[in-house]
Amino acid sequence: MGATICHYLIGSESNEGICPICNKICPIKGKEKVNLTDKEKQLISESWNSFKEGGNENALEVLIICIKKSASYKRDLGIIKEEGELKSDSRVKSHADSVMQFVNTLVESINNQEKIQNTLTQISNYHQQTQIPISSLIIYKDTMIDFMLEKKMTAKEGSKAWHHFLDKLLDSLKKVAKETQTSESRQPSTSQISASSKSNIK
Ligand code: HEM
Repeated sequence: MGATICHYLIGSESNEGICPICNKICPIKGKEKVNLTDKEKQLISESWNSFKEGGNENALEVLIICIKKSASYKRDLGIIKEEGELKSDSRVKSHADSVMQFVNTLVESINNQEKIQNTLTQISNYHQQTQIPISSLIIYKDTMIDFMLEKKMTAKEGSKAWHHFLDKLLDSLKKVAKETQTSESRQPSTSQISASSKSNIK
């Protein structure tokens, strides 16, 4: 049997996000809408295709630049290797692959608000046990866009579209993280993550 979907908030005027009936984040209501122009979508999609042409190598390079820029990356990702060995670190490689896969899903879901929300919820959940501050995600965003500019995968107009897109996603992610905390504190259950290890995304 498929999962039952609660339609309470979908059919209501409320923009609350957390459903008072099922006590879960409503996948449709109360979220930042990613309102991009067709031109912005086209610029994002074209540059992402160029980024993807390099396989996961580009994502790995971006992550390594972030690690070199910010000491908190090394600590948060649990990396012990020195700078010259980062490319062969399995933790760095696997996280670069994850980021690549999830950013790809977000770009491919650019017209599907519900899929975007579900993906952001997944990303937020993955980061719940660790203390990943929003500032680290902003560093990642800026570094990735600068990388695409530098490698001529995009130009100024495209980079603006990316900032617009990813800023909206970060706003949503902050909301999702906050709502997850609120929802869990309303209805604690043994299967939920303990209060002391909640997401630190602010
Ligand atoms: C666009 C940005 C990001 C995306 C899409 C993303 C996505 C993911 C995904 C899908 C996972 C689960 C799979 C895995 O363990 O690799 C994950 C885990 C993790 N991410 Fe990220 N991440 C992003 C940025 C960051 C940043 C900036 C940091 C810290 C500097 C970070 C730290 C972590 C850590 C520590 C885990 C492991 C969590 C655990 O084992 O419980 N992530 N991330």
